[in-house]
Amino acid sequence: MTLFKQLFDAATFTYTYVLADAVTRDAILIDPVQEHTDEYIGLIEGNGLTLRYILETHVHADHVTAVAKLKARYTEAKSVVSEHGGAPCADVKIKDGDMVVFGNEVVRVLATPGHTPGCVSYQWRDRVFTGDALLIGGCGRTDFQGGDAGRLYDSITGRIFTLAPETLIFPGHDYNGRFVSNVAQEMTGNPRLAGKSRDEFIAIMNQLDLPKPKLIDVAVPANQQCGRELARAA
Ligand SMILES: [Fe+2]
Repeated sequence: MTLFKQLFDAATFTYTYVLADAVTRDAILIDPVQEHTDEYIGLIEGNGLTLRYILETHVHADHVTAVAKLKARYTEAKSVVSEHGGAPCADVKIKDGDMVVFGNEVVRVLATPGHTPGCVSYQWRDRVFTGDALLIGGCGRTDFQGGDAGRLYDSITGRIFTLAPETLIFPGHDYNGRFVSNVAQEMTGNPRLAGKSRDEFIAIMNQLDLPKPKLIDVAVPANQQCGRELARAA
């Protein structure tokens, strides 16, 4: 038996996930947002959970992680970021194939670089948490933070689309009120990927011409330090 919740930050359209073993009460969080720390604490303590790990799918550019605030309260909880994630402060640096164990539950790490070099997806039971690698009907941008459209194409087609077709896709964001998709739907219906060659995908990504995220100059340095307050210049 398990506990699973999908939480939403309306300011940045970010999804955060809570997973717990309902028997042992061991829990993990994926991509928590600093402004919602009290909500997470309420959920953890209201359900009698023990927070074991705080997982990041990557170093985010649009929000500051709640990791520092959560670790201040739950000193045993460990932060988890890819070894290529650019956050040397992380307690556990993971790579492809690693397992994160909480209670009797296991999350498997899939390296899915391209949006950033340190992007990972987390596979758990019948679902995969894809961060900003694969979004519903879209994907993460590849024009900053070491992004690489060719690598992202390889990650999505080689790692995510090779999972069982019915595998549920829970993304890191959705801007249109959608909660969940699956591998088959994205393979056949994602306009950036369905029927597209690697070169066509790269051309699409290079033409997006997106505005810079509002918080990038604050969020990236803060997240590289696991959400700790940045020292102010004197
Ligand atoms: Fe991102």
